[in-house]
Amino acid sequence: MTFREDGYAAVDWAADYLERVGELPVLARVKPGELSARLPSSPPEQGAPFASVLHDLDELIVPALTNWQHPRFFAYFAVTASEPGILAELLAAAMNQVAILWRASPASTELELRTVDWVRQLLGLPDGWHGHIEDTASTSTLAALIAARHVTGRNAIVCSEHAHSSVEKAARMLRMELRKAPVDGELCMRVPERLDDVAAVVPTVGTTSFGSVDPVRELAERARAAGAWVHVDAAYAGSSWILEEERWSQDGVELADSLVVNPHKWLLVPMDCSLLWTSRPGEFRQAFSLVPEYMRTSDQVDSLADYGPALGRRFRSLKLWAVLRCYGAEGLRAIHREHIRLARLFADWVEADPAWELAAPLRFSLVCFRRRGPDEENEAILERANRSGEIFLSHTRLNGRYVLRLAIGNARTTEADVRRAWEVLNG
Ligand SMILES: Cc1ncc(COP(=O)(O)O)c(C=O)c1O
Repeated sequence: MTFREDGYAAVDWAADYLERVGELPVLARVKPGELSARLPSSPPEQGAPFASVLHDLDELIVPALTNWQHPRFFAYFAVTASEPGILAELLAAAMNQVAILWRASPASTELELRTVDWVRQLLGLPDGWHGHIEDTASTSTLAALIAARHVTGRNAIVCSEHAHSSVEKAARMLRMELRKAPVDGELCMRVPERLDDVAAVVPTVGTTSFGSVDPVRELAERARAAGAWVHVDAAYAGSSWILEEERWSQDGVELADSLVVNPHKWLLVPMDCSLLWTSRPGEFRQAFSLVPEYMRTSDQVDSLADYGPALGRRFRSLKLWAVLRCYGAEGLRAIHREHIRLARLFADWVEADPAWELAAPLRFSLVCFRRRGPDEENEAILERANRSGEIFLSHTRLNGRYVLRLAIGNARTTEADVRRAWEVLNG
């Protein structure tokens, strides 16, 4: 077999998978260790044809998949690896660019700067911000907090009690002090009294549990006056700013020192692609730039490795470019509007049924709800629904109470899928 024939077979496999993924169980049905027990414990001595990889994919791997591409995946934040993004990943691997500095991949460096700037324009963010791609929001936030500490020389981070755990993890890795501020009745962070010893304030636009939006403008104004850095975590909800009508949640973001938005969450780009913008690129370079002799050149251009922890950088912009070109802003806006409409529809069913209640205000495409009654009943409903294989939802807690979350983010999700989720939950 040749690369070409194997390649056709791999693309056929991918196309068949995407065609039938809606018939597979959403949540993997295997038990922990089941796949490990079926994999050889030592590596193969002899090479095998690529067809054996595809064979094992069907036999071993697919049964152990939780199918994130399934239209009834509603857990965590539902995502989509769109077809242009999938193909671009294949092409990026073929070219295998290792963008350690501009001359090591002018294409990767310049396409990254341009595509991230396209997204900046689509989201209505300020002119002149510098953006680059990291793997995940966890890394983007870590990088921003490193820059914040470098600039301020301070050691405390302030975020909401509902901020994503990546903020706490970054604080722990950096040995910085984390101060979690309480929230108000709308689950938005209360502005702390004192910020004068704070390195960074991290408001969230679209918290993981509830989609709530912290008061970015007020926090940013107070932080600026106190000499603190402002890093906005809009990993999930930032993509919704492609819609003018969702820009209410952007209020004050223009005052941020840095901002993270993940196209791998809600902009159809396959995992992984996290955009990190800063209005203070010089400070980022001061924090991160370190050029050993073997990388010194006379090229007189920035290297994107000077803006974050990694040196070798993948050609991630290729998939972002492919998605933007193939969908266009119009195509992406239509998908967002539909997801937000479907979330509203589901929330209406919840509100219209006296047996159920919304647990938090509806935000973006995330519905937080519960069956009126004890936590155990809600836990049992979720367990039964997820075991059915038809849908997959996840949960959170609010004031100690068990809350179900329905997150819409897959481009293949239709109204019939959302209706089916409602039926299964009521089944
Ligand atoms: C608000 C928010 N921030 C950060 C993250 C972390 O994202 P990543 O998996 O890209 O590190 C998440 C993940 O869901 C999130 O919801």
